[in-house]
Amino acid sequence: MLSISGIQKSFGRRAVLGAVSLRIEAGEYVAIVGESGSGKSTLLNIIAGLETPDSGDVSFENTNMNTLNDDARTVLRRDNFGFVFQAFHVLPHLTVQQNVGLPLLLRGFDSHQIQVKSKQLIAAVGLAGRENGMPRELSGGELQRVAIARALVGEPKLVLADEPTGNLDQENARQVLALLRDQVKVHGAAGILATHSEAAAATCDRRYRLTGNGLDPL
Ligand SMILES: Nc1ncnc2c1ncn2[C@@H]1O[C@H](COP(=O)(O)OP(=O)(O)O)[C@@H](O)[C@H]1O
Ligand SMILES: [Mg+2]
Repeated sequence: MLSISGIQKSFGRRAVLGAVSLRIEAGEYVAIVGESGSGKSTLLNIIAGLETPDSGDVSFENTNMNTLNDDARTVLRRDNFGFVFQAFHVLPHLTVQQNVGLPLLLRGFDSHQIQVKSKQLIAAVGLAGRENGMPRELSGGELQRVAIARALVGEPKLVLADEPTGNLDQENARQVLALLRDQVKVHGAAGILATHSEAAAATCDRRYRLTGNGLDPL
């Protein structure tokens, strides 16, 4: 499904990624472990087509992302990828249900479909009854559940999670990681979890450490 090969990226004279290669098939959940500053977010941004590598290729379902223009990359990302971030990025002026339904709205689903599907995902992440709540009424763990529901509502083929538990206490982190794994598996998606934590990485099927020389299997 996803194949990246020989990815290199520098910022000025700082070489961040050197020769990163990885293949992921549908249904696989893979951890990329690295210290802060090791390039995890840069790698995820390159996979998402949000950042361009200096060299190397990213292919999604046999389409080389380098061959797409910005509009085509945006559509590919919108229709196939789901994102979960450390800082949740739940929109403060939208209700829980509006936040979860947003990816479907952007893809032109009708309002009935959006309502049915977003309610279903909200229930799946344990927030049934909170549909009309506002983000300010939710805890960090609950906000991340909303973000997981939003990431999966469009049935993405690939879920990219960047330090999703970085802002959570240990117990909420444990619950969110279990939920994220569970949802990735239920939907048959592929997933990449970027984390500094080996305990978090233990929830994945395969693990790699990101170093300046690429990915080492853990
Ligand atoms: N847009 C940018 N411009 C300059 N340097 C950047 C940029 N993005 C990331 N970096 C640098 O690249 C390195 C890796 O960053 P990042 O990918 O965010 O690491 P991680 O997510 O593992 O903490 C850091 O040294 C960071 O300062
Ligand atoms: Mg990061």
